[in-house]
Amino acid sequence: MIEIFKKSPVIPVLTFNDINQALKVSEVLIEQGLHSLEITLRTPDALKCIEAIIKKFPSANVGAGTIVNTNQLKQVKDIGCSFTVSPGFTKKLVNEAKKIDIFYLPGASTPSEIIQLLELDIKFQKFFHARNSGGYKMLQTYANIFPDIQFCPTGGINSNDFTDYLSLNNVVCLGGSWMVSNKDLQDMNYTNIKNSAQLIMRRLRI
Ligand code: 3PG
Repeated sequence: MIEIFKKSPVIPVLTFNDINQALKVSEVLIEQGLHSLEITLRTPDALKCIEAIIKKFPSANVGAGTIVNTNQLKQVKDIGCSFTVSPGFTKKLVNEAKKIDIFYLPGASTPSEIIQLLELDIKFQKFFHARNSGGYKMLQTYANIFPDIQFCPTGGINSNDFTDYLSLNNVVCLGGSWMVSNKDLQDMNYTNIKNSAQLIMRRLRI
């Protein structure tokens, strides 16, 4: 999974409750080159939206976020998600993901949480909430303290600082919602979403 994320290292974190909107936004992002998408499970129809995206864009790297219980892991495995993400973790979640064989990216922000995940043999971790937990400077510090751990920072990252995070050797990829604003979703402003994705792709090529 790390190699897949490296190829498309900016992961839009998206919240949908409408299948048509989910398909349209995903199409715009994937067409621009953002092939990894994390869809949160925070709405009643999130699962239906994820299922529709996976069916329509089978080559995209589509995952489910805000996993907080083992039932969700099973549900998203059944509809074909390629990865799952939590803002934190429990041993139960880590074990269940291993048992049902779905890729799980658990969240940590403190040294103790990072070590607890290391004890569970997890060396690729989400760093959440990235900005409020010290931002890329904290990750620079963690590179010295935990040289074997790689991170996917998420939370509070924006168009001005995402390249700072990606320039760190211990950052594989990052997630964020900044490229698809709530206003653009409400207004169905797909041009703005396309422009935002294009800007990211340009910055990634520099
Ligand atoms: C989330 O859980 O919504 C993600 O961490 C995205 O955070 P952001 O909206 O601050 O980018």
